[in-house]
Amino acid sequence: MANQFDVAVIGGGPGGYVAAIRAAQLGFKTVCIDAGKNKAGDAPALGGTCLNVGCIPSKALLQSSEHFHTIQHELSEHGISAGKPTIDVAKMIERKDGIVNKLTSGIAFLFKKNKVESIHGVAAFAGQDNGKWLLNINGEQTISATHVIVATGSIPRPLPNVEVDNKTVLDNVGALNQTAIPKKLCLIGSGVIGLEMGSVWNRLGSEVTVLEALPNFMPMADSQLATEAFKVFTKEQGLNILLGVKIDAVKNNGKNVEVTFTTDGNSQTQTFDKLIVAIGRIPNTDGLNTEVIGLAKNERGFIEVDDECRTNLPNIWAIGDVVRGPMLAHKASEEGVAVAERIAGQKPHVNLDVIPSVVYTTPEMAWVGKTEEQLKSAGIEYRKGQSTFAANGRALGLGQAKGFVKMLVDDKTDRILGVHMIGPMVSELISEAVVAMEFSASGEDIARIIHAHPTLSEVIHEAALASDKRALHG
Ligand code: FAD
Ligand code: NAI
Repeated sequence: MANQFDVAVIGGGPGGYVAAIRAAQLGFKTVCIDAGKNKAGDAPALGGTCLNVGCIPSKALLQSSEHFHTIQHELSEHGISAGKPTIDVAKMIERKDGIVNKLTSGIAFLFKKNKVESIHGVAAFAGQDNGKWLLNINGEQTISATHVIVATGSIPRPLPNVEVDNKTVLDNVGALNQTAIPKKLCLIGSGVIGLEMGSVWNRLGSEVTVLEALPNFMPMADSQLATEAFKVFTKEQGLNILLGVKIDAVKNNGKNVEVTFTTDGNSQTQTFDKLIVAIGRIPNTDGLNTEVIGLAKNERGFIEVDDECRTNLPNIWAIGDVVRGPMLAHKASEEGVAVAERIAGQKPHVNLDVIPSVVYTTPEMAWVGKTEEQLKSAGIEYRKGQSTFAANGRALGLGQAKGFVKMLVDDKTDRILGVHMIGPMVSELISEAVVAMEFSASGEDIARIIHAHPTLSEVIHEAALASDKRALHG
């Protein structure tokens, strides 16, 4: 029957759409139900948070603002003067929207190509019939499927008593769609969104204040990297990042917003043109009717899954931001592929210990594996090799010679346990470390591999040599 499927995927983000394509490739009759809409809200748009209001649009704006900053501050040392640049912010947003549209419509094309049936709407569990799961779509249409993959993603964590109107008080959606440069911008939360969005508007000329609750900066990162990043963002780039802040009140006046906060026991109120709230994200199970079938969630609202993304119910799987683990697009996609292959009887494996993290600021930051702090608290003996971009010919040629690569290796076995980078294009360089760690490489393996000259990757090579106290250029 037309409304019976082998696999139904709920959610068309990087977890769901990839799971659907892989399931169809494996020969399953597959449907993907997604509620996402385009920016205007008048047409379906696949791709979830990542493509519509996350990874892709943020990187487009980071690039535009980086160009603007480069022309203003970095060309003169090359002997180039281009006058005072101007920026048409609406045009910048239009370019970003074009990239988003291209990629979201690309998924619709991929669905057709792979014979994934695509349904636009909100899916809700409606029970079971003859061993098949029933799903209602928009409360009207009912479909049945042998397997269901839940990939409903995440939504911004709300700040109590603060209403996001996406005009003056913004979440990620509003932050990515401003058509004028706010003179004074406040960000609550110095996490990944805070740093990336703060960088965009700082480069375009906003006076940026970041209010962070925790007393230490970027606690998820290696502390040496976090210390270096804090210095660059505050001292060199002028971001005003305040740590250990308690937000007392937020008053949206329409034209501006007053934020009252306490630091070091002192309360103050500042007025900003815009406020971005980025204090993390929470799993999204709204409207799914998980209670109807008894789908288990943990106390934080994440759907409970085992290492293989199995839920407590037979043939219901969950992947991506709606389950444990880092909220990253590449993690969601890999889980999607793995679940489709498990349904087909294969034995894939997603290694949650080797997932790269990247922050697309300037300098970029990237890491994989354990931090020094984690190794110390686990009592693992390690050696550290570090090399900087300061003496790297390619980095100097690029005019981006700040930062370092740090490699942590097991003291006895020499196995690479973690790699932490801050510097130019480390978003790309981190892949070498990921591949090495997936192949259980040692520091010596990297030290003996030929790295092209002059390239940024030579800094990884040097870090590996340094971990054996035989750096050639350090
Ligand atoms: P989502 O992408 O959230 O997709 C879920 C989809 O399910 C949505 O389309 C939603 O409409 C749909 N849905 C929900 N409920 C239902 C329902 N009941 N019925 C039908 N459809 C439903 N990650 C990175 O790896 N790199 C980055 O650079 C990066 N940048 C980011 C920047 C920002 C500003 C933000 C907010 C996030 C960023 N992320 C980044 C995180 C990344 O976007 C998420 O990890 C990723 O989108 C999670 O994928 P997902 O498939 O689990 O969920
Ligand atoms: P985050 O978890 O990265 O950071 C949130 C920050 O807000 C934390 O530092 C936290 O201590 C702080 N905070 C929490 N409550 C607060 C309060 N009441 N007052 C002040 N500060 C408070 O979350 P963020 O930045 O919202 O991003 C959400 C997720 O999206 C990230 O965890 C990441 O997984 C993903 N993302 C990934 C990107 C990438 O890979 N480059 C880019 C942007 C987002």
